[in-house]
Amino acid sequence: MWFYRKIIRPILFARDAERAHNFTLSLLARASRSQFARRAAGKIFSAPELPVELFGLHFPNPVGLAAGMDKTGAAVPMWEKLGFGFCELGGVTWRPQPGNPPPRIFRAVSEGAIVNRMGFNNPGAEAMARTLAQWKEGGLWPGHPVGVNLGKSKATPLERAPDDYAASFRVLRRHADFFVVNVSSPNTPGLRQLQDKSALAEVLAAIQEVQHTPPDNARAKPVLVKIAPDLSLEAIDEVLELAGPHHLAGIVATNTTLGRPPGGDAGSQKIYAEAGGLSGKPLRARSTEVIRHIFKQTRGRLPVIGVGGVFNASDAWEKFRAGAMLIQLYTGLVYEGPGLPPKILRGLVSKMEREGIANLSEIIGAG
Ligand SMILES: Cc1cc2nc3c(=O)[nH]c(=O)nc-3n(C[C@H](O)[C@H](O)[C@H](O)COP(=O)(O)O)c2cc1C
Repeated sequence: MWFYRKIIRPILFARDAERAHNFTLSLLARASRSQFARRAAGKIFSAPELPVELFGLHFPNPVGLAAGMDKTGAAVPMWEKLGFGFCELGGVTWRPQPGNPPPRIFRAVSEGAIVNRMGFNNPGAEAMARTLAQWKEGGLWPGHPVGVNLGKSKATPLERAPDDYAASFRVLRRHADFFVVNVSSPNTPGLRQLQDKSALAEVLAAIQEVQHTPPDNARAKPVLVKIAPDLSLEAIDEVLELAGPHHLAGIVATNTTLGRPPGGDAGSQKIYAEAGGLSGKPLRARSTEVIRHIFKQTRGRLPVIGVGGVFNASDAWEKFRAGAMLIQLYTGLVYEGPGLPPKILRGLVSKMEREGIANLSEIIGAG
């Protein structure tokens, strides 16, 4: 962690944010193909087990990679070597698309935050399916669950959104363990309107229809919905009403926010003036509030993956106490480096020992 903060991070942060991201991902993609690099990373970033059984899947630990980091599935074998208990790839859309023009990622360093307006730059669902098949055929599929985040193609009009999501799900469902319907990215015009109850119901119905279509109807894949932190509590409740009828496995809470916190230095204010979604420390409290609300409304019966501003073990602890069963990291990883998942896990394990807690499930929703 020290080495990353003092040596690596200044080098990466001296570059444009997207270039630094692409550079890191290309290193991880290369490392994915090297047995030596995989083994070395597995040793350096070894993490204590903290198993969770959920959605009929075994998670070696509850700390996952959030969507947006590995949009193409380029480094699938590496995430478990860095200590993650699962990863969510994508967002991927049915049509390949370039996303918004750069620059489109901005760091507000003094605030521990990022603003992005990527706009689902991705090679399309069919290309992602080929990549995932290659990892599997090459014997490099990880031991942990792999999820895929599904977005809507920009060129597809909102009223055709159900077909667009269903087309991606159809080609990918065989290749991943769970799916997240992303209706909360602020960077595709109109996308967030799909969080409205009737629009979302149509998208989920189209996906469930694919679940029951041969030849892949042997085992339904868990489907979750990812929501925005900017929804009112009433609007969240409407999404929750769809869970039973549409067989939702859970909710991912939350995506980035269009809101901006007050304060911050001049540099951060300049970044906050950029269009896009804000992630990192300023998002933490709101994301936790949304998780707590969902837990309370569903009496803990609908699993929540908590994401937003987790930078250390006590942030993770707070998310579990609010009701998250799993958590994910994006911005924390950018600021704290690849040692973060094992550091969080060690912190959780020692806190559990101190407080005499034998199983993480004892704290979920406890606060
Ligand atoms: C550059 C960037 C790209 C992202 N891309 C996606 C995406 O494609 N799909 C998605 O659901 N969330 C995406 N996210 C949101 C994250 O998955 C996460 O929900 C959000 O950043 C809050 O977590 P954090 O504070 O740990 O970063 C992206 C975030 C960032 C910073």
